[in-house]
Amino acid sequence: MNKIAIAIDGPAGAGKSTIAKEIANINNLLYIDTGAMYRAATLKLLNSNISFDDKEKIEKILKNTKIEFSNGNIILDDINVNEEIREPRINESVSKVAAMPFIREILVSLQRGIAKDNNVIMDGRDIGTRVLPDAKYKFFLTASIEERAERRYKELIEKGYQCSYEETVDEIAHRDKLDSERTVDPLRKAEDAIIIDTTGKSINEVIDIILNIIRN
Ligand code: CDP
Ligand code: CDP
Repeated sequence: MNKIAIAIDGPAGAGKSTIAKEIANINNLLYIDTGAMYRAATLKLLNSNISFDDKEKIEKILKNTKIEFSNGNIILDDINVNEEIREPRINESVSKVAAMPFIREILVSLQRGIAKDNNVIMDGRDIGTRVLPDAKYKFFLTASIEERAERRYKELIEKGYQCSYEETVDEIAHRDKLDSERTVDPLRKAEDAIIIDTTGKSINEVIDIILNIIRN
């Protein structure tokens, strides 16, 4: 029997992971945060202290790297890295790592493997366009840069990081630009995705919009 697949794409801070997690709970789906996989690969490379230009070494390291999910946690080489992958140093480098074609090849294949065996809701940048082009439901979440930065800024302050709202705007605008302009699988709306502008909308409002579409 064909598995259910829901794809959620969009820029940073659009609410993808919060909303996908909730929809997964309500509909008994497996939630896969593909951004966490690119973040874990970035953490591994930063900890390995190698230059991002050294393609050969990067390939070698990543071929010997295990990235898995267990009970909603992201596990890198058998260690839970949920917290570490959200650190600002990862935000600074992840889009550079995610632009490397061979890294995308490895992770896309892992993501497709998970979707083959499970009913999934997957969020990222290229889920509707590349990872699961046949997904039955595709959503593209967005919001104004000001609101997305405000949401992220609040999270960072709550976690005790020292940063300004302006720095947060710059960080996500820079990441969005790299993600949208890269050659391989850039961030873009799939033609058949439904766009939801979440500016001024609460989490519950967005969940309701999506649930109504799925149920109808
Ligand atoms: O949570 P946030 O939206 O800030 O980012 P994320 O979903 O954790 O993704 C982090 C980064 O991974 C993105 O900025 C992209 O560079 C990359 N990514 C990607 O290239 N393709 C995906 N399917 C998911 C994430
Ligand atoms: O995954 P993505 O980067 O798209 O966004 P997120 O991590 O799900 O959401 C970023 C922050 O915005 C979280 O703290 C959410 O609680 C918050 N949020 C919100 O306040 N209103 C929404 N409509 C969606 C998310």
